[in-house]
Formats: sequence, C-alpha cells, structure tokens
Amino acid sequence: LITDVRLRRVLDSRGNPTVEADVLTESGGFGRAAAPSGASTGEYEAIELPPSEAIAAARRHAIPRLVDEVYAGNQREVDGALRAADGTDNFSEVGANSAVAISMAAGKAGADVLGAPLYQHLGGAFRGENFPTPLGNVVGGGEHAKEATHIQEFLSAPVGAPSVSEAIFANAAVHARISEILDDRDVPAAKGDEGAWAPPISDAEAFEVVDEAVSDVEDDLGFEIGFGLDIAAAELYDEDEGGYVFGDEVKSTDEMVDYVAEMVHEYDLVYVEDPLDENDYEGFAELTERVGEQTLVCGDDLFVTNVERLQDGIDVGAANSILIKPNQIGTLSDAFDAVELAVRNNYDAVISHRSGETEDTTIAHLAVATDAAFIKTGAVQGERTAKLNELIRIADDAV
Ligand code: PGA
Ligand code: ZN
Repeated sequence: LITDVRLRRVLDSRGNPTVEADVLTESGGFGRAAAPSGASTGEYEAIELPPSEAIAAARRHAIPRLVDEVYAGNQREVDGALRAADGTDNFSEVGANSAVAISMAAGKAGADVLGAPLYQHLGGAFRGENFPTPLGNVVGGGEHAKEATHIQEFLSAPVGAPSVSEAIFANAAVHARISEILDDRDVPAAKGDEGAWAPPISDAEAFEVVDEAVSDVEDDLGFEIGFGLDIAAAELYDEDEGGYVFGDEVKSTDEMVDYVAEMVHEYDLVYVEDPLDENDYEGFAELTERVGEQTLVCGDDLFVTNVERLQDGIDVGAANSILIKPNQIGTLSDAFDAVELAVRNNYDAVISHRSGETEDTTIAHLAVATDAAFIKTGAVQGERTAKLNELIRIADDAV
C-alpha cells in the first residue's frame, strides 16, 4: 500500500523547475520520477501547470486518494485515482506534470516491491525480445534553437545496427562526424536544447551535411544507418501567411506534401514526424498515401498520445506511427493504451523524451516494456544519455 507521496520542484535540463515525485510503500518500496517538459508542445496535450501550482493541487486532490488507499504495483488503480482526483479530461486541475511524475514514481515503487526492474514490471514475463532502435537528434533548430534550421530535428536512424548498444554509439558517431563536417565548411555551431548541433545553415544544406555524416559512419561501422526528420510543422504553420513559413518562403499544404515526399525519395528518409500541421489529418493522409510504403510517417502533435486522436487518424489513414510521450497524456496507463491501439492497427510506436528533460530513465523502460519499434531520446548530453545508458544496461541484464 502507498504510505506517502512526496513532491518537490527540481531543475530540468533547460534550468526550469519541474515536478519530482517520490512514492513510498508499506513494505518499504520506493520510486522516484520527474516530469519532462516540451517547448514545441501540441495544442491538444494535457495541461502542464506551473510546478508549484501543480504540486499544491496534487497535494490537495490526488495524494489523499492514493495514500493508504492504493497499491503502487496496481498501475491502473494509481492512474485511475489520478484521473478521478483531477476530474477533467486534460489534467488541467492537478497538472499533467504532477500526474505523470506520480504515475511513473508509483510504477517504480511497484517494481521495487516486486524486486523487478521497471521494464519487467510494466511489460510482464511475455513481452517480446526486441529492443527499440534509437533515433538520435543530430542537427536541429525550430523551437529548440534560434538562428538554425527551420526543420526542428534531423535524426540519425541506425536501422541496421546489430545491437541497441551499437546503435546508440552509431548515433553519437554521426553527431561527432557532423561537427567535423561543419568545421570543414567553416560553419560555427551551437547546440540546441536536446544537444543536437544548431548551425546557421539552410535546411537544404543540413540535408547534405547529415547525409554525408550518416554515409561516412555507415562505411566505418558496416551497417545501415538512415536518417529521418521531426519537422514539427505545427510550429511553422501560420494561417494568416497561408501556409508553412520557412524564412522568406511560404509553402502551401500541397507544396509541403510535395517537398516532404521529394525529401523522402532523395534522401531515403526512414522517418518523418509531424510533416504537417497538428489539425491537418487530411494532409497527413495524403502524404502517408504517397510515401507510407517507404517511410514511417509519425504523428506527435497530431496525436498527442491520445487514443481518441489516434483513432481519428487510423480512421483516415493519417500516419503509420505514433510518438508516445507520457506527459502529453498524463499517466503510464494512458500511454500504454495508446501503444496498444497503435500496434493493433499496424502503427509503430516511438517512445519519446521532451526537449526539457531530467535524469529520469522511465522512458527507456517503457520502450522495452512495450516492445516499441523506436525510442527518440537524443544522441548525446547527460539528460539524454541517462536514458540511452539505461537501455544499454537493460540489454546487458544489468538493471
Ligand atoms: P518538445 O519537442 O519536447 O519541445 O515538444 C520534441 C518533439 O517535438 O518531438
Ligand atoms: Zn515532435
């Protein structure tokens, strides 16, 4: 039985406050987790409150429903209590940041009580044997870095790596190789929020640079490395401008679909996330019709880890994969439901970090527990490597 839930403000990787939760149980179980935070957040995400408000609201409404009431190992009941305490469908009362921190901390406490690693507690004895392929952000801009590319993320995708550890090192090697190529071109490069290079170059030049780096590392390592994108197009879309704003150029929806399809063919992209605005199911469906056989078309801001929005997408063929961010929806149970609906409809699940992160490693366990095809959690930088190194440990049975 849960005997105490303690909440506090801690720092995230951008230096902003976020919510950390500790869950303690009667039998001595302990779990700790912290909420991440997005910058290019979707319009339909669950609501993140200022951390002090979220903590106060959770203390008032949620903790009384958990302490001496619910077993930490019963994740559905924990998450049901959080939902009941909130009473809305978007966690606007308790805050999705308090909710997700408590939900994940309870999962860890439940695992601790069982003496099992979190991925095993969440995934059970019959989960698959596969490890997710890590998508590593190596160049980017958008809302994550000023004066860089319009496309938010260029992602290294080591689809041919023989092991998760080799895949993780491959992404770091692509990241390092890009630094050399930019040096050769006399391009100075700062880093964005997720540790990707944020050079002041055009999107067209970024395609060239990433393509070259990926080929070089592929030659070095001897297995296939592709690359993909998170366009985060909702951030580029401006209704008053009549389309997607790339600096001085504005692309209409049709032009955007053509552009993305062209890039998929020219660079053999293996992954394209949020290629169109978060309200444009139709545009998504048209692009998926055109390139869905060759590449993953993934909905992040489109689906926001929400089963209703995902079902709408499935109904019209809007994509063939979904990004899963527990804090977009508020609980682990909701995130699991989204993965399950996705997989039943042949959509690949991509478990994802946020641009604002902590050292928390829950998503590494979630990716293994759900047998997800991919995990997107950066390539370098401490709050990203926390998850990547945890994946290496899980694969090594050392957790
Ligand atoms: P965010 O970006 O965490 O700033 O929303 C990540 C993403 O768009 O995938
Ligand atoms: Zn995204």
